[in-house]
Amino acid sequence: MKKIRASITGVGGYVPDYVLTNQELSEMVDTSDEWIMSRIGIKERRILKDEDKATSDMAAEAVKQLLEKTNSKPDDIDMLICGVVTPDMQFPATANIICDKVGIVNAFGYDINAGCSSFLFSLITASKFVETGNRKKVIVVGADKMSSITDYSDRKTCPIFGDGAGAVLLEPTTDEYGMHDSLMHVDGSGRKHLHQLAGGSLNPPSFETILRRQHYIYQEGQPVFKAAVSNMADVSIKIMKQYNLTPETLDWFVPHQANMRIIEATARMMGIKDKNKVMINIDKYGNTTSATIPLLLWGYENQLKKGDNLIISTFGAGFAWGATYIKWAYDGKR
Ligand code: UT7
Repeated sequence: MKKIRASITGVGGYVPDYVLTNQELSEMVDTSDEWIMSRIGIKERRILKDEDKATSDMAAEAVKQLLEKTNSKPDDIDMLICGVVTPDMQFPATANIICDKVGIVNAFGYDINAGCSSFLFSLITASKFVETGNRKKVIVVGADKMSSITDYSDRKTCPIFGDGAGAVLLEPTTDEYGMHDSLMHVDGSGRKHLHQLAGGSLNPPSFETILRRQHYIYQEGQPVFKAAVSNMADVSIKIMKQYNLTPETLDWFVPHQANMRIIEATARMMGIKDKNKVMINIDKYGNTTSATIPLLLWGYENQLKKGDNLIISTFGAGFAWGATYIKWAYDGKR
């Protein structure tokens, strides 16, 4: 019997209309376009301003577009996983709310929180359901409303993050196109450098947690920066070696968008000289956490060709990181 692979057969995406520029940020905190561009590489980011809208609303827009593009009906979808660190609520899962908003009634699903690796870990988890023949049409979402946990009085974190959502459809195939191997790691000792301290069972919400500003992102940039570069490069190089991929035969490097300098340093360690092979959207969307990877695939879909070799690599809170090798399954210009 031929091996079943999980193959991405479509991509959808959504970013809110509101553009938060470096100029506007520099009126809120002591920062400048020059600092943000040189240290992070972000020109602007999108923010979901509507007070009654949440992560699931952006995700639902991305999923609706995906269904339309792939001529799929909501009834056909048999699973939906949502990678997310800013769920609509503590429970139920945002995946359930997305299904409800889109009219997906024949699926089961759940959320995965692996920091900025949430989408990648969701994609790999979903692929196992497809590879075993258990599920036939699985949607994997990466979505975050980072503005809901960003402290816009903290100049160390507020320029970094943006809001957005992306989604892919996974279907089975018996040819060589689709997801090949993956590597995933966690190191919980990294939690001291990057976390949201309050709101969970350790520090339930209280006046004190609010006064201490513990419901916002806390990040020590430098240790996270170093761990991001070395670990993303490590797993990417290992996967490339496993499949005899070289910087020349690799068509696309799809890195998590945390910092332009992290992306460049990782690509350099992997030996990638051609900058055009590295997907980038951090300049216009910032770090959208779980949404960076599906939004990259969405933005570059037109340039992707059947048979292209892609390495996706991510690193984030946890620490949690990983990489996967994908042989792209369709011509993006279709
Ligand atoms: O996606 C999840 C994983 N996250 C990451 O991978 C993020 C990894 N870390 C980073 O990307 C970078 O460390 C940051 C962008 C967060 C910070 O950049 P940095 O080059 O590491 O700056 P720094 O924190 O070492 O700060 C350098 C200086 C400090 O001033 P002093 O102490 O040297 O006087 C900061 O106070 O820059 C100052 N600074 C700012 N200045 C202007 C920090 N933020 C700002 C700002 N504008 N927004």
